[in-house]
Amino acid sequence: MRVPAFELEVFFGKYEFSTPYLLAQSDCEAMSIEALLHLEPDAAKAQREFLNTSLGYGENNGRPELRRAVADLYTDMAEENVVLFTGAQEGIFACMNTLLEPGDHVVCMFPAYQSLYEVARSAGCKVDLWHLRQTDAGWQADLDDLAALLRPDTKAIVLNTPHNPTGFTLDKAQTEALCALARKHGAWIFCDEVYRGLGWNACAGKTTGGDTAEAAPWIADAYERGISLGVLSKAYGLPGLRVGWLACKDAGLMEGIARYKNYLSICGATPSEALALVALRHGPELLEKNRRIIAENLQTADAFFARHAQLFTYNRPQAGPIGFSRIQVCEPMNDFCERLAHEAGVLLLPGSVYGIKEPYFRMGYGRKTFAAHLAKFEEWLVSKRLV
Ligand SMILES: Cc1ncc(COP(=O)(O)O)c(C=O)c1O
Repeated sequence: MRVPAFELEVFFGKYEFSTPYLLAQSDCEAMSIEALLHLEPDAAKAQREFLNTSLGYGENNGRPELRRAVADLYTDMAEENVVLFTGAQEGIFACMNTLLEPGDHVVCMFPAYQSLYEVARSAGCKVDLWHLRQTDAGWQADLDDLAALLRPDTKAIVLNTPHNPTGFTLDKAQTEALCALARKHGAWIFCDEVYRGLGWNACAGKTTGGDTAEAAPWIADAYERGISLGVLSKAYGLPGLRVGWLACKDAGLMEGIARYKNYLSICGATPSEALALVALRHGPELLEKNRRIIAENLQTADAFFARHAQLFTYNRPQAGPIGFSRIQVCEPMNDFCERLAHEAGVLLLPGSVYGIKEPYFRMGYGRKTFAAHLAKFEEWLVSKRLV
């Protein structure tokens, strides 16, 4: 299978490690291996155990205790129905290639992280895009638009919630309505839930709470043909581990996906799986740490966008660590972001990497350096007389 360039990853490949003031990242604040092991009550013992991890091959579908710990995140999931992957990206590739055949009809939420529709398209599927809409209340999804795209032969609906890049998040009622729609059409729902766990972002001045009654269930809990994609990269802030997973109640599908994985990474990295187990033991604490960082950064962002309301349309994320706002400039967004990176060392992600022509950019709220980096951006805007 031939795949086109992954525009977002190409852009980050060019700038992420050479631009000092990052404002675009989608992952939350990371930690060192030492800091992670120090979360354990007996850190010295945890370090010894980690250093004793065998560098032999691991089990193909993932270390059993880790699969159990992932299954426990769901209300009703057998560990046999969880398969671990090297990051979320491998899970997308394995699932799409197992589930889909050339000629299948797929509907994908848009804009989207490119692999969510590109793998299906490259596999010869007909992909229709379900466009989210910019409204006065930020980015929203219209379920009637989706219903109009569905066909009797639609094989899969591909969702991402909380959403990259808009921060739009499906609530419980919308999720239930989506499941009913998919059930009516006999379609699978593949839901990329890699930003799950950060709660709904409360309004300015209030702290960000945990998952509330409004928050939707995991798709694999809500729908018998729902496939959940999760990962430790984003909400947990541990992308260096490269530990992701797929979970689905359909055992036949999961067996097929596991067989496909034998052609990819075969098994996970054993040191990563050992650390992932520690991370999930402290999952609530890691998520709480990152929720607090986002809540504080969103207050800083609220004040920044209020000061410069004539230049920006601010779209506060409903949940998750990223938002997709609009700036009033005539220059193409890619040129604007490249100029900003070269002149001020500040990195924003242009909407053009998602195929969006209007001047949108992605901003990330999950890092401790956010306020300092935003100040650099503001300085540059002042120096250019844009504000
Ligand atoms: C929506 C979405 N899905 C999947 C991925 C891939 O995640 P990972 O780095 O864990 O492979 C990303 C990374 O940015 C993403 O934003």
